[in-house]
Amino acid sequence: MTLADHLILEFRLEAPQEVGLRLWASTAAGQFRLRAVKVQRADPGDAVDWSGTHGQLDRWPLDRIRNVVIGNSGICTASCLHCPTNKPWLQVPRGEVMPERIFDRLLEGLAGCGLPITGAIGFGLFGDPLIDRNLASRIGRLKAALLGVPVTVSTTGAAFVPRQAAVVEAADSIAVHVESLVPEVYERLMAPLRFATVMPRVEALLALAGRKAVLAVPVHRRNRAELAALEAWAIGLGARGVDFQPFTNRAAMTEGVLEMHISPITGACTQDLAYDLIIDWDGRLLTCCNDFPKRSDLGSLATAALPDLLEDQRRHLLFRQLRNRDWQQIEGCRTCLFDDPLATREAVQAARHGFSQVAASP
Ligand SMILES: C[S@@+](CC[C@H](N)C(=O)[O-])C[C@H]1O[C@@H](n2cnc3c(N)ncnc32)[C@H](O)[C@@H]1O
Ligand code: SF4
Repeated sequence: MTLADHLILEFRLEAPQEVGLRLWASTAAGQFRLRAVKVQRADPGDAVDWSGTHGQLDRWPLDRIRNVVIGNSGICTASCLHCPTNKPWLQVPRGEVMPERIFDRLLEGLAGCGLPITGAIGFGLFGDPLIDRNLASRIGRLKAALLGVPVTVSTTGAAFVPRQAAVVEAADSIAVHVESLVPEVYERLMAPLRFATVMPRVEALLALAGRKAVLAVPVHRRNRAELAALEAWAIGLGARGVDFQPFTNRAAMTEGVLEMHISPITGACTQDLAYDLIIDWDGRLLTCCNDFPKRSDLGSLATAALPDLLEDQRRHLLFRQLRNRDWQQIEGCRTCLFDDPLATREAVQAARHGFSQVAASP
């Protein structure tokens, strides 16, 4: 694995003249994984200053929080093939439901830190949020303290029971993760969930949530043929639509997962990521939603207050590293692959096209 972060090709022109540049990038060019190409006039600029590229946010100390992701439950009843949760090789302590004192600190910190939340609050990180019996009241408390900030719950629906109607009532959006409508494929991808047991729950959840419901579908080679059928099914049950998610290896080079990618490119997050607040059940603040091994070093709500953690020098270091595009210095970034969003959109369009042709044929 190479440790180089930047490959700078410099061309000097003695006199002003028109130049044509033709660049090709491949995901893996020999030992290199190319994440971004920047063409820049170095005069009078500084060739290593990336601050204006891709990223949109550039203030330190932070002047806002973008998204908040809460791992209110560290427990999941699934062990999806492409997710590190519940895998024997993942060396993390057993997850639990977020203790009340951690949630109280988070709520107090969000309400008192003085920073606006410009994105959304999401429940569901490395476990299933519906395992948390206090979820409805937690959403209610957050919404009362942070008026106007939308709240989403991401779940498989496997733990959905009728008394959780209060969660649907309290949240603005429910994202229901379904990989496939083919029982064998579903059970292979979302083991050990059983299709026949979970589907009635998913259908009840989708029907109850109506337009609040969105089907969450990571798009990959194992389900690309089914994408339009999944969409028609969810909309038929009253859902608002489908969130077709670009597939990620979740920063794990797991066997069997890499070949599920449609068109992998290396993750290339900008400093905007440092504006996201990701909190696991034990209060640990994480760099990114793919840090399943919890290698981040951003402090914890178990030992510090949120306003201090937001200004902490460790978050500042992350901000600077991402701003400088020093991905190789950040543990999880080294192995992070995402499908190219364009390839994901094309896979969805192709599936819709095939579906409408089958529907139109006599
Ligand atoms: C990690 S899950 C946690 C919440 C819950 N356990 C669930 O599966 O919905 C959060 C979101 O990530 C999506 N997801 C899971 N694995 C993925 C992958 N390999 N690539 C892209 N998205 C993925 C799921 O569809 C879900 O919407
Ligand atoms: S993707 Fe969600 S449901 Fe699947 S194992 Fe990971 S956390 Fe659990």
